[in-house]
Amino acid sequence: MKRFQLKLAVAAAALAAVLGCASFPSADETRALGEQMVADAYPGMPAALTARAVQDADQKICSKLGGEKLTSIEAGRIVDAARATMKYPPGGKLAGDWKAGERLVSDGAGLRVREGRVEPVKQNGALCINCHALDPREVNSGNLGPALVGYGAQRGNSDAVVKYTYEKIYNAWAYYPCSNMPRLGAHGFLTPEQIADVVAYLVAPQSPVNRK
Ligand code: HEC
Repeated sequence: MKRFQLKLAVAAAALAAVLGCASFPSADETRALGEQMVADAYPGMPAALTARAVQDADQKICSKLGGEKLTSIEAGRIVDAARATMKYPPGGKLAGDWKAGERLVSDGAGLRVREGRVEPVKQNGALCINCHALDPREVNSGNLGPALVGYGAQRGNSDAVVKYTYEKIYNAWAYYPCSNMPRLGAHGFLTPEQIADVVAYLVAPQSPVNRK
C-alpha cells in the first residue's frame, strides 16, 4: 500500500511539472520580469544608476536563456562593438604606476547611494581579486577568472602584451564575447588612467604579481 501511495505521489509530481512547464513564461517575458524586479528593488535611485539595470544590446544577446549557443555572427558583432568602445589614456601611456594599481585591485569601493543621491565617499576600486589570484601571498582571492600570478614574469611587458592587457581590462568582450569579466572601462567603472595603473601592476617586474 505504501509503495502504491509513493507511485501515486511521483506520478502527481510529474504531472505537476509538465503542467508547470506548459505555462512557463517565454525567454523575453522572463528577461523583462528580471529587469523590472531589479528596477523596482531600488526605489528613488538616481536615473543614471537605474539605467544600469537595463541590459545593453550585446548583454541581451549574451543573456539568451535555455542554454542557446552564441552564433558566430553574434560573437563577431559583440567583438566589433567592444572594439568600437576602446578609449586610451591621454598621451597613450598604457602602463602607469604599479603601486597605484596594487591599491585598486583589492579595493571594492564604489558609489554609495543615500536618499536618492550618489555620494562619492572615496575613489572607486577595481576589485580584481574577487575573481583572480594576483599576489601569490594573498590567500583571500576568488577563482571565477583564471589565476594571474606571474602574469608579467611569464608574458613579459612588450608593447603587444601591455596593449592586450589594457584592452582586455577596458572591455573584456573585445577578446572573449559574453565572458563573465565585467566591461570595466567601457562602462565607466574604471578610468583609462586607473586601468593603466592596473596594467602596470600585472606586468611590472617589481610588482608582487611577478615576485619570484
Ligand atoms: C566578475 C569576475 C571578474 C572580475 C571582477 C575581473 N575579471 Fe578578469 N577575467 C574574468 C574571467 C571569467 C576571465 C576569463 C574569460 C575572459 O577572458 O574574459 C577573465 C580574464 C582576464 C584576463 C585575461 C587572462 C589571459 O590569460 O589573457 C585578464 C588579464 C584579466 N581578466 C584581468 C583582470 C583585472 C586586472 C581585473 C580588475 C581590474 C579583472 N580581471 C576583474 C573574470 C573577472
